[in-house]
Amino acid sequence: METYKNILFLKEKNYYKIEINRPNNLNALNQNTIEELKDCFEFIKNNSFNMFGVVIMGSGDKAFVAGADIKEFTKLDKKLSIDFAKNGHELFNNIEDMQIPVIALVNGYALGGGCELSLACHLRIATSNAQFSQPEVNLGLIPGFGGTQRLTQIIGKTKALELMMTAEMISSKSALSLGLVNYVLENKEKAILKCEELINIFKRKSPIAIKNVIKSVNSFYDNNINGYDKEIQLFSECTNTNDFKEGVQSFLEKRCPDFKGN
Ligand code: COA
Repeated sequence: METYKNILFLKEKNYYKIEINRPNNLNALNQNTIEELKDCFEFIKNNSFNMFGVVIMGSGDKAFVAGADIKEFTKLDKKLSIDFAKNGHELFNNIEDMQIPVIALVNGYALGGGCELSLACHLRIATSNAQFSQPEVNLGLIPGFGGTQRLTQIIGKTKALELMMTAEMISSKSALSLGLVNYVLENKEKAILKCEELINIFKRKSPIAIKNVIKSVNSFYDNNINGYDKEIQLFSECTNTNDFKEGVQSFLEKRCPDFKGN
């Protein structure tokens, strides 16, 4: 496994842990960090056997990620900004398309690109001090890493427009009531335990079925795909697996299934 300058990448017993580690900049995503994350997720994609999830968090307690690195914004112009946004989209699309669940453990500020990073993950577990915002209008910008789309998908147009037009910072409690996060835990330690609890649940399910749930749900948001047709195709693919045979057989034999992911 690679070691990186801006992120800590660890293989835990049955999941990967990624910690964005730029505490002096509140873990802001500079271009190097984005490249490292791309590389890291590529590695995970190719090494996911017997791994049941990914947890991504920010180092320290103050910030998950306080956004894209504003200190790099002075270079941006109309042309460079297209590559800049496309690069962020590429990373976040890759995360959304991962075949094992990716959980954002949101500890502290999740602002701008940080909020967008959490939105690209499959689940969001927040600590009670987490705060979410899309503050780009304060900089004369709009969210550029998929936020206008994913925030709207996740919490609906009414509140998404309000949050993006006011740049309001909301608490983890409000995020929970908006359906922006799955759970709120008291602190980082408890949030890690919650992530591990979820990963242990995924571990007992068919990896192929989990992968196909992610694919099928993602297809709902893909304009080029009929999600209902995709569901039929993926449902059918599941029936062609040993996991499906084992799942049904174990039910009939009144025992726990032993899925092998094939
Ligand atoms: N990009 C680059 N650096 C950032 C950053 C970002 N998005 N967010 C914070 N930092 C840096 C600060 O510049 C500061 O660095 P410095 O010590 O070299 O000046 C350091 O992180 C600590 O931040 P600071 O602002 O001093 O902390 P604070 O507790 O007073 O305020 C925030 C915290 C999050 C409210 C404030 O940092 C902030 O508004 N950040 C920008 C958030 C944003 O607009 N993100 C969206 C970008 S599109």
